[in-house]
Amino acid sequence: MKKIAVLTSGGDAPGMNGAIRAIVRVGIKRGFEVYGVYEGYKGLVEGKIKKLGYSDVSEILSKGGTILESSRLKEFVNEKIQDLAVEQLKKRKIEGLVVIGGDGSYRGAMALAKKGISCIALPGTIDNDIHGTDETIGFHTALYNIIDAVNKLRDTSSSHHRCFVIEVMGNHADNLAINSAIACGSEIVITDKTGFDETKVIEELKKCEEVYHKKHAIIIVSENILDVEKLANRISKETGYSGRSIVLGHIQRGGSPVPKDRILASTMAEEAICLLKQEKSGLCVCVKNNRIVSKNIEEALVEKNENHDWLYQLFFDLA
Ligand code: F6P
Repeated sequence: MKKIAVLTSGGDAPGMNGAIRAIVRVGIKRGFEVYGVYEGYKGLVEGKIKKLGYSDVSEILSKGGTILESSRLKEFVNEKIQDLAVEQLKKRKIEGLVVIGGDGSYRGAMALAKKGISCIALPGTIDNDIHGTDETIGFHTALYNIIDAVNKLRDTSSSHHRCFVIEVMGNHADNLAINSAIACGSEIVITDKTGFDETKVIEELKKCEEVYHKKHAIIIVSENILDVEKLANRISKETGYSGRSIVLGHIQRGGSPVPKDRILASTMAEEAICLLKQEKSGLCVCVKNNRIVSKNIEEALVEKNENHDWLYQLFFDLA
């Protein structure tokens, strides 16, 4: 195999650029010609492919987002669309592809692998919700962004006897919510796992005020569960705190990647190059017990992720 390509797909994640940089530089050093596919699977189907050299990836390690840009292409489940992608690669004699993205992107990689393209997937998502791996590229930066925002909200809410209801991302996964709740010392966390009982939340806040004499309170809420503004209004009406709400939104996904994400991205990308060098395909790179390993994508996607009830136990012991 002489020519390989790399693409980023799905929601961008800080650290994707570090992975692209490592694919290009390590790839070239190990004898590959490396191509960048722009705008994910959409760009692949449209043939937005360009050869990348050493300096094309200079000064990107510290930048969030992805220089290759990204997209979500639902139609990629369609075999005819997949065939167009294969055609674009074949006509350029590109035999290997590294896909950086979430589980939807993994399924695309699996489909291309079945059609003869050597595909390796890397986990790139702030949600840390990819089966088979303990960590994903971007999660630690998003967590840092949340904590940075909550620190600021804490300053202002403690000056005004307020309770802030803060919605964090994660799609349907609770990783950002429970980890940020522990890291910022929130009073309450609401996720799919905890469930949501509005009356209980009000009671807990009254306890914070009357028993613990807290000047302010923070509630971390996982997205897609409740209307944070509505909850804040009820808090204003029924507790001594004035309620305020904020949806942190895409702020969480931007910014310079933290060292952990840069290192994770670089080491995972190096592993992807090693696998392509060995002509492997249909694999994803994972972290298990602090070690980089590779797994069959199909098997990884149905692997049960570790139960993290202990994190909730810790949260409740600390709150
Ligand atoms: O998967 C990453 C993520 O940021 C989720 O946490 C969130 O639900 C979703 O993407 C938002 O998607 P979009 O950027 O398309 O609005």
